[in-house]
Amino acid sequence: MRTVLLPKDDNPAYFYGVLTASVVPRPIAWVSSRSAAGTPNLAPYSFFTVVSGMPPVVLFSSNGEKDSLRNIRETKQFVINLAAEPLFEKINATSAPFDAEVSEFEAVGLTDEPSERVDVPRVSQSPLAIECSLREIIPVEGSFLVLGDVLCVSADPDVLAEDGLPSFPDLAPLTRLGRTEWSFPGEVRAIDRPAAP
Ligand SMILES: Cc1cc2nc3c(=O)[nH]c(=O)nc-3n(C[C@H](O)[C@H](O)[C@H](O)COP(=O)(O)O)c2cc1C
Repeated sequence: MRTVLLPKDDNPAYFYGVLTASVVPRPIAWVSSRSAAGTPNLAPYSFFTVVSGMPPVVLFSSNGEKDSLRNIRETKQFVINLAAEPLFEKINATSAPFDAEVSEFEAVGLTDEPSERVDVPRVSQSPLAIECSLREIIPVEGSFLVLGDVLCVSADPDVLAEDGLPSFPDLAPLTRLGRTEWSFPGEVRAIDRPAAP
């Protein structure tokens, strides 16, 4: 017998807890953006995935209207910084509800540096950045899917393997679980895909 967990109209937080503890582990998009007035912004988003390989498109979901969403609407650009293990506390610190006029880079003690193709700073301490221009914002009830066309990925050469692709152990990405839990990089196994039967 299974225990069936159901949404409860009078307690939306309950099923949010069920879903976020069920869809695990989730990669974390550490999104940098810039307001029209020029203030840099940085915040983590774990409702995040790749939508398409060619053309390359990624998305993250803003649960409500937040500074990142407002900035991206205004300037049409954003950067997804890799949430690397040594930055655990800093990444969490950037999720605090800072005022829109506050730069999270300064507030939590991170260095911003220019990106390659967009006028949005990246986190210099993060080893990889995915630079995006806004493709589309799709509202889903009170949430907003932010789709970005990927213009380039910039990486510290130290996190690239001999085949030229990013290396998981060197990236050491954090992932988000349910509750207040995070997961740290673990074992990697490779396996070939089966041939067509
Ligand atoms: C690891 C982590 C993942 C998060 N994922 C999301 C998410 O997917 N969607 C969302 O709306 N908020 C998410 N949050 C909360 C936002 O980071 C938080 O609301 C933040 O203040 C938003 O910042 P902004 O207003 O500068 O965009 C997450 C927080 C943490 C710590």
